[in-house]
Amino acid sequence: MNKNIFNSNYAIELDKNSSMYNHSKLFHYPVKKNKKILYFNGNSLGLQPKGVKQSVFKELDDWKNLGSIGYFKNWVTYHETLNKLSSLIVGAKPSEIMIMNALTVNIHLLLISFYKHTKTRYKILIEKDIFPSDRYAIASHLKIKKLNPSKVIEEINANNHYIETDTILKKIEENKESLSLIWLGGVNYYTGQKFDMKEITKFAKRYNIMVGYDLAHAVGNVELKLHDWNVDMASWCNYKYLNSGPGSPSGVYIHEKYHNWESDRLEGWWGNKYSSRFEMKKNFDASKNASGWSISNMPILSSAPLRISLSLYNSIGMDRFRNASVSLTNYLESLIKKELDRYIKIITPLNSSERGCQLSLKIKGGKNVYDYLKKNNIICDWRNPDVIRVAPTPMYNTHEEIFEFVKILKDYDFK
Ligand SMILES: Cc1ncc(COP(=O)(O)O)c(C=O)c1O
Repeated sequence: MNKNIFNSNYAIELDKNSSMYNHSKLFHYPVKKNKKILYFNGNSLGLQPKGVKQSVFKELDDWKNLGSIGYFKNWVTYHETLNKLSSLIVGAKPSEIMIMNALTVNIHLLLISFYKHTKTRYKILIEKDIFPSDRYAIASHLKIKKLNPSKVIEEINANNHYIETDTILKKIEENKESLSLIWLGGVNYYTGQKFDMKEITKFAKRYNIMVGYDLAHAVGNVELKLHDWNVDMASWCNYKYLNSGPGSPSGVYIHEKYHNWESDRLEGWWGNKYSSRFEMKKNFDASKNASGWSISNMPILSSAPLRISLSLYNSIGMDRFRNASVSLTNYLESLIKKELDRYIKIITPLNSSERGCQLSLKIKGGKNVYDYLKKNNIICDWRNPDVIRVAPTPMYNTHEEIFEFVKILKDYDFK
């Protein structure tokens, strides 16, 4: 049967059949002049879950009413709940997670511990269009070590914006003697391509290469099994798909095999074992888990939203979340192909197992189209030279919104 999929009734029917039907009611939605904005920018900053204000106010009240007593009532162990909830989302043990700092800071900390170089083994493998902050972090780390970034960094080129797993494995094979570290985006920020982290890690571990991932665009978006995949370390931000607010602290994963760490690491009192942390001893006595890498006490107010958001994810479960997510993105893909094929090329892989929720649209008309969308109350984002990224998430987006988005986009005068 040839169904008319470009139809609001059809979209509403898909919503009713979604395993996350009506979930958006748990979020605040931006409005302009009393009109709901269509928000597809969870890849940049997720929307605010409704429980967040209460969660932050609880900590403000504790601060108001308890002062420093609040530390031992709640705050010194605040990360434990967050670590536990995060562990279920990234497929790790709670002891392998620490919520701390910001993502780029954590990349620096991970490089200090996990990037080792010798005369023969020194290279770092990255994707060519890795997020710039990752590149800056790596290059500056190398310069501190008096190494030349252009000699150390080995890049993987994309072919038409796509990187085949085989291309990555071949690159590893060719450089197996000289590679020290692989650092990839689990989902590439620009194209939305998800890499086969399991396969890449398995292959690299054959040659004892350290493997880490920047999961900024993967966490809360695709299923992750970091521990089972034997990933060495990873980090992510919590303000994108995990909806915990601008600048909220990042997450770090460090495989448990490193928890008796005695090598390089930046140390601070929060990485000291809880049992002796407040004895103020001269020698650092590291926690034997990922929190051994933490340095300072937690920013409680900016961590409070994360409790709410992580609880939402955990109550849904990643399986159910992913099913709902695939349905939304597949619908967006189908409508674009059906209605806008002449003007838009989707550069994200068309196979849903190779992407998360984001579609990156290479668009005829460039920035003018983005400006038109913005004028029409649609928030997505623009990336030079000609890409609009649209990331519908089942946390708060619907098929009906996707239909509205394509309808408005179709009204643009592409000629
Ligand atoms: C892939 C990726 N890496 C790193 C960053 C930098 O994050 P932060 O400002 O938290 O260091 C971002 C931010 O958007 C990102 O998308």
